Amino acid sequence: MRLLVTGGAGFIGSAFVRLAYQKGIQLTVVDKLTYAGDLKRIQEAKSTEFYPIDISDRPSLESAFINGRFDTIVHFAAETHVDRSILNPDIFTLSNVIGTTNLLELSLKYGIERFIHISTDEVYGELTSGKSVKFKETDSLLPNSPYSASKASADMFARAFNRTYGLPVMIVRPSNNYGQWQYPEKLIPLFIAKLLLGEKLPVYGKGENIRTWLFVEDCVEAVFKVMEKGVAGEIYNIGSDEERRNIDVVRGLLMIMGKGDDMIDFVADRPGHDFRYAVDTTKTQSDIGWSPSVTFEKGLEKTVKWYIENKEWLLNKKREADEFVGLIKERYQKT
Ligand code: TYD
Repeated sequence: MRLLVTGGAGFIGSAFVRLAYQKGIQLTVVDKLTYAGDLKRIQEAKSTEFYPIDISDRPSLESAFINGRFDTIVHFAAETHVDRSILNPDIFTLSNVIGTTNLLELSLKYGIERFIHISTDEVYGELTSGKSVKFKETDSLLPNSPYSASKASADMFARAFNRTYGLPVMIVRPSNNYGQWQYPEKLIPLFIAKLLLGEKLPVYGKGENIRTWLFVEDCVEAVFKVMEKGVAGEIYNIGSDEERRNIDVVRGLLMIMGKGDDMIDFVADRPGHDFRYAVDTTKTQSDIGWSPSVTFEKGLEKTVKWYIENKEWLLNKKREADEFVGLIKERYQKT
């Protein structure tokens, strides 16, 4: 197997690249290296062929298909931050929708044998109660943010390319990931960085929204198994039973980092803020034989430790992210 990983310098994509490299797989990476991409994440994957390409730029993307040698694509490349999508929806259409259709078309043209499209649980929309109901792969898509709408649209194209042209596409829908190398605009690394700097933690609304947390290394193991054992045309949810209210995640961080509740700052809520995400993973567990191995408490401790050990990287990225975080604050206060 020869692999092309799009978004391979991103948070989840790079964890997948490191895993595939450890397994001795020949790799090509395409990444636009936006603010969220960083080649440091994959410096240990030494023989990787790298193309600094924007997937929404069709001619450049085709050059990777002409020059690269791969038969399988794992497509992580995407704009992923909901808050950014609220400020700038257009770049989400460009990268996530046009970028994905470019890849699908070129995959047909160049005879790609397996295409794993990385989606998100956010395409299902929100669950409105904290009860045991969870999203199944057969549920309809009801995205609420520009981000999730762009991902749902990409999923629809991926499905259509399988149904119409027989492209062997599998769709994977993971829940919220956390772990090392995540860009500090997302909840967990942002709040670790803020606590290291003695800054207060801006919790949206009352902190009651619920997310299901999946350790990034568990996530990429699942993607790897889908790549090996998944069936073309199928969708696979990836998640854990680790559902937490945001306020409980924040309290967990405060406890690990030895800080108190006085660091919490309840701020204006995100517009359209989805209440709860949770996915039913029965199908994935039985069809591909995967289940998560890291509990949230263990994973969170490991994550905090890694960011403390890599404080310089974290705080440099945090400085870059600050301007954007400030814009978000202004915007939400007005709505
Ligand atoms: P995030 O990491 O942005 O992921 P997603 O929106 O894709 O789930 O946010 C996780 C949760 O944390 C979400 O409910 C929004 C909330 N949140 C805050 O309360 N404050 C923040 O500063 C951020 C970034 C997120």
